[in-house]
Amino acid sequence: VGDKPQPSKGLVITIDGPAGAGKSTVAKKVAERLGFAYIDTGAMYRAITWLALENQVDLDDRYILTDLALRARIELFGAEGGNKVYLDGHDVTKQIREPMVNAKVSKIATYPELRRVMVAKQREMAQTGNVVMDGRDIGTVVFPDADLKVFLTAGLEVRVQRRYEELWQKGYNPTYKEVEESVVKRDWQDSNRKVSPLRCPSGAVTIDTTQMSIDQVVDKIVRLLNNGRS
Ligand code: C5P
Repeated sequence: VGDKPQPSKGLVITIDGPAGAGKSTVAKKVAERLGFAYIDTGAMYRAITWLALENQVDLDDRYILTDLALRARIELFGAEGGNKVYLDGHDVTKQIREPMVNAKVSKIATYPELRRVMVAKQREMAQTGNVVMDGRDIGTVVFPDADLKVFLTAGLEVRVQRRYEELWQKGYNPTYKEVEESVVKRDWQDSNRKVSPLRCPSGAVTIDTTQMSIDQVVDKIVRLLNNGRS
């Protein structure tokens, strides 16, 4: 999926990894620290999933879904904009984290036609300047020549616990078992799809966050970028 990217105008840091590895929290903080834009590509797949569910689109129909993605105007507002996600001018920040979206997003993300549309949107977004972009295929497909590629991992138990706490904080009340099943299923789908599966990109630095605080991970990434450029 995706032809060769146009060289980006600024620096690009990619952060890939499984669910609950801490990608978005870390990516957001790295972006803030460096004054880069943060692009959450998972939010983009989620926005399309939410739109499809809202419009009762058949999730087996990849062509309607791709058309939906083509027409959708997705806007991501960074830290100053409260990290909001807008779809066709409407704030969908909260809706795209709903359990229903969690359950379906990885299915939609298997369609190569739809992924091609998303990759093009992501590359266009990065043309604005320096960016930190997180997802599953950013270092492998979207920006294989990025200035710094990171693969974030953590033990399953820690990842489930993080997701569990996050959901309870957001007002959802799933059981630990439900969260575990959802994380395992999504990782399996993301790692085993034919197109752009979740992989550690070649040349990426792997960081296991199981025993690390968020700030330690952020420090490490900032150091890696600076070392790479000195
Ligand atoms: O990062 P987040 O957990 O919000 O991503 C939601 C889902 O979107 C992932 O489980 C995956 O199926 C899909 N995704 C993807 N490629 C990306 C980002 C997300 O397939 N670059």
